[in-house]
This record gives sequence, C-alpha cells and structure tokens, in this order.
Amino acid sequence: MAQEMIVVLDFGGQYNQLIARRVRECNVYCEVIPYTTSLKTMKEMNPKGIIFTGGPNSVYDEASPHYDKGIFELGIPILGICYGAQFTAWALGGEVKTAPVSEYGHTVVEVDTNSMLFKGVSPRTVTWMSHTDYISQAPEGFTVTGTTPVCPVAAMENVEKGWYAVQFHPEVMHTNEGIKMLSNFVYGVCHCAGDWKMASFVETTIQQLREKIGNGKVLCALSGGVDSSVAAVLLSKAVGKQLTCVFVDHGLLRKNEGDEVEAVFGPNGPYELNFIRVNAQERYYQNLAGVTEPEEKRKIIGAEFIRVFEEEAKKIGAVDYLVQGTIYPDVIESGLGKSAVIKSHHNVGGLPSVVDFKEIIEPLRMLFKDEVRRAGLELGIPEYLVFRQPFPGPGLGIRIIGEVTAEKVRIVQEADYIYREEVAKAGLDKYMGQYFAALTNMRSVGVMGDFRTYDYAIALRAVNTSDFMTAEATEIPWSVLMKVTNRIINEVKGVNRVLYDCTGKPPGTIEFE
Ligand code: XMP
Repeated sequence: MAQEMIVVLDFGGQYNQLIARRVRECNVYCEVIPYTTSLKTMKEMNPKGIIFTGGPNSVYDEASPHYDKGIFELGIPILGICYGAQFTAWALGGEVKTAPVSEYGHTVVEVDTNSMLFKGVSPRTVTWMSHTDYISQAPEGFTVTGTTPVCPVAAMENVEKGWYAVQFHPEVMHTNEGIKMLSNFVYGVCHCAGDWKMASFVETTIQQLREKIGNGKVLCALSGGVDSSVAAVLLSKAVGKQLTCVFVDHGLLRKNEGDEVEAVFGPNGPYELNFIRVNAQERYYQNLAGVTEPEEKRKIIGAEFIRVFEEEAKKIGAVDYLVQGTIYPDVIESGLGKSAVIKSHHNVGGLPSVVDFKEIIEPLRMLFKDEVRRAGLELGIPEYLVFRQPFPGPGLGIRIIGEVTAEKVRIVQEADYIYREEVAKAGLDKYMGQYFAALTNMRSVGVMGDFRTYDYAIALRAVNTSDFMTAEATEIPWSVLMKVTNRIINEVKGVNRVLYDCTGKPPGTIEFE
C-alpha cells in the first residue's frame, strides 16, 4: 500500500527540513524535494498535500525559482509559506510588492479563526516573519484570512481549490501556534490519516535499501557514535552479511569505548554484522609524535583514518556502496537544484575522495538528531548508545592540548571516566549538552603526602547547548565538582590540579582544539 505523504517543495528557504520535521511530528510522512523536480515526478509521488517553502528570492527576479504553474492543476492541496505564499499569489494573478523596510521577528497576525488553517488558533496570534516582499493583493478567488499593520495579506486561502498561503513561518517555534496550523493543513485540508510513525520510516527505509542494493556489497565506517550506529543497524537489517562495518580504533577513544563498540557490533553482539575492528593506536601515536599545532593534528588524524579505511576496503574488494551516517544538520547545502550531493561526513574526514564507490548511501540524511535517536530505539539499539553525547571524530586528540602521547591519552581517559561517572551518579547527565575532561599542557607544582609534585592540570568542561553552535558553561553543583576533583587527584597518576572551564561559546569553542 502506498504511504500517504506530504511533499515540501524547496525554494531554498532556511527552514525547509524543519517544515518536514513538523509534519512528521503530526505523524504524516514528509519529504523535501528541490524545486527543480519535474511536475511529472511530483505527480508520480502522488502526495496528499504540497508545501512551498520560503526562499531568499523575489518572485520578480529572473533567477528566482518559478515552479511549473501546472502544479495548481493537480487538484492537490497546497500551502505556500513566505516566498511560497508570494509565488502562489504571483502565479495565480495576485500582486507582490517590495516593502521599503523588511518585517522581521515576532509579529502579531490577526487571523480569521473560521479558516480551517486557523481552527483553534487565537484571533491575535504571535508569528515569526522574515520578509521584504509582501502580497499586496490576493489573486481572484482568494479570501484574506490574516493581516498585520504592514502586511495586508499575511494569510489567504481559496478553500474550493485547497490553496492556502501564509507570509509568516508556521514551522519555527517562535510562531506560537504554528504546529496547530500545520496540523490543520495536514488533517483538516489534506485529510491525512496520520498513521506514520518512526517505525514506518525504519521499515520503509529497510525495504528501499534492499531494493537499491540488490546483491551489492556495502561498507560502513562505524565510529560507535549515534549516527553511524543507527545507519549501520539499518543497513544490516536490510542486507545482512552484504554489509561490512569497519571500526577504526585510533587510540583516541574514551576509556573502554573500543570494547563497548565491539561488544555491541562485534561477533558476540546482537547484530549479525561483518565487523572489522582495526587497532591502529600505534600508527596514530607515531604519526602524532611531536605535533602540537591543533589543525595539523586534526589533519593527521583524518588522513590516517582514510588510509586505514582504504586498506580495509581494498582487502574486502569490489565494494559497491559506502554508508555514511550523515544527518540533516551535517548537510550544509540546501539541496537546491542539486540531487543528493555526496558530502563527506566530518566524522570520517572525507572518505569518498580516496576510495572508489559506485555510490554513497546516507539513509539518515533527512533526519534531525532526536529523530535519529528515535529510529535507533526502534531498531533496538541500546539506550546508552542512542543517547550518547556527541564525540568528535578526532577524539581525545583534540582534548589533549599539545603533543599526543599514549601516556597523556591514559591520563585524560581516566579523568574523563571519573567525571562522567560522577555526573551520571548526580543525575546531571540528562541536563548537560556535552561534558568531558581535557588535558591541559600545563604542569604545576603541588604537594601530595609530604612530597612535591610537578604534574598536569585537568580541565573539566560542561556546556548547556541545544545546537552546539552556541553554548554556555553549566553551573555544576560545587559538591559534584569537589567529588570529581578529589577522585581525579587521588586516582589518576600524573594529575595534581583540576580546573573548571567557565567559558561560553563564543568566545570559546566547546572542544579545546
Ligand atoms: P566546537 O569545538 O567547534 O564543537 O565548539 C562543536 C561540536 O562539534 C563537535 N566537533 C566535532 N565533531 N568532528 C566531529 O565529528 C570534528 O572534527 C569535530 N570538532 C568538534 C564537538 O564535540 C561539539 O559537539
């Protein structure tokens, strides 16, 4: 049975995937497609509704995305958002003008609550606007259902045709009742049944992967992080032993991490994977010896990863597909006019340029982190793996300031382990975006027993963040900091001082290098 679907037609707006995500939150499957997709393909997709996104252009620009007006003849309900609303007005004979000043930010819109789109919404509702052009006159057959002092047509509709348009962005959280509006469109206008769940995504993706891969061989660079783990398990459910996962232990993982990953994905774990663990610690330490410059360290770690991976790929031979756990926030390109741009995941430092594959498969490309986690739970991946905090590809290499040595790795691993253990015991782990211990390059004088020490200082870092682009230092209870400090000093040889990093981002970054 064909799955009911809403299609988001991407005109280059910043929030295109967010719209899809909101629709999925309404339990309706949703996909984003570029505006270059032909009308024929659109018809074949047979969506229950179409949403036009915003975009940076003006409808009067020659270069702006003008979709085939035949879309208005498909008899499929349409919701235009921002540029998508202007395009609807322009295409159907309304008028769009450029305002002398842009309207940006929180804006109260007076809406007609008799409209299906605004059913159950407050008559004066707070929305998020970001536009310079505006619809000055709705096309014939449309009723204006929303206005602001600057925007004569903040919302309009042609109920008979099923065409709706809003100048503001219902998909962003700043539009207080935006989800209700999208839900009204999906259910009240498009009459969706709403039977989609993350389990359906998992099931459908497995089916699609099976069809695509056939008898081909697939290789996956597995780091043990959430994204690559979910991608690997999806693929394994789809093609079983045709998949080989390569896990490179570069000696810069957290304490016990290599063994933990192997326990889940290795031969004794619950998945029947071809799992190759490459213990490349020595190679890494040799290559990093004497190197102190952060960028140089990162490059060496990335390049070595490629080399190790390439060697393994050659041993397996004739691999058709490479799987990457790229998720939506990793995809910088808007996807505008480009079909599935193959992007190297920053976790694995640009694999595709060196290893020859027929195609890169990125099954999680359209999902946000929390959606990936939900998919992981559906796949039965253990919670402690699914809810892991992010860990950078270069690992402890960028948490050891200055030269990396096996001894320094041991120190930071031990200290980090204690820190994580105490944070979890205090029940703080669910509230902090990311937290870890780093090894400073500073040694200082201390006294232990009756002896002088001259040892390293460990820096503890903890940040609250939702997007990892900005962050603030977490106010960890003093008692927890004291406990961690005492344990690190007592239990980790080579450390005589523990510091807490109070720097936000900006001006700091989350990692130290
Ligand atoms: P920064 O240090 O830039 O980190 O504030 C932001 C987020 O990105 C993670 N990070 C990385 N992740 N490869 C990764 O996969 C990397 O090279 C890398 N560098 C930083 C960092 O842990 C934080 O979550």
